[in-house]
Amino acid sequence: MLIEQLKAQQVLPVLVIETIEQAAPLAELLLKYQLNCIEITLRTRSALQVLNYLARQYPELIIGAGTVLNVEQFDQVQQAGASFAISPGATEPLLAKAARSEMTFIPGVMTASETMQAQGYGFKLQKLFPAQVAGGVELLKAFSGPFSELLFCPTGGVNPNNMADYLALNNVAVVGGTWLAPLAQIQAGNWQQIESNFASLQGQLTVSV
Ligand code: 3PG
Repeated sequence: MLIEQLKAQQVLPVLVIETIEQAAPLAELLLKYQLNCIEITLRTRSALQVLNYLARQYPELIIGAGTVLNVEQFDQVQQAGASFAISPGATEPLLAKAARSEMTFIPGVMTASETMQAQGYGFKLQKLFPAQVAGGVELLKAFSGPFSELLFCPTGGVNPNNMADYLALNNVAVVGGTWLAPLAQIQAGNWQQIESNFASLQGQLTVSV
């Protein structure tokens, strides 16, 4: 089950990939470090193509499509081979569409009302975005009272310095972020640096990856 895989991995790399040429070496490194669950954002023109390529070439990857903003994109990423979809927010049409779909959806929230609305559609794992701006660890502590059945994936401003504080919370399943493979390092093809980012995770997580 996706939620168990995310919990075990603890971190969800959020990736902005512009070309197939960038995708292949990155996929090899992700698999080497057992970072099988990833988020590919729909922020580049070739995102769907990259998603489809990775889903076909690397079936061990569990690919989430990120930045899914509307129902059309929800359909597109499903067709491209995504295992799940993530959004920075949660509009009514998207929630309704995803609730009827077999593809797992992680809606984005940053307020109690948004959380309640997504919960109303049955979504028990929600992305807190942008986590640091929304209130970070303190917000999630406060949410654990009224929303004791929910789990969160804080993303946006998570980094090696605050990651452990998030992961220590009972209502955090996994943290997401771009710091593991920042766009500039991907663009530069700096695989050595990205590998070193992945390797340093082992010392930062409570249970090694
Ligand atoms: C996202 O789309 O989830 C965020 O842009 C990731 O935020 P970060 O760059 O602060 O990790």
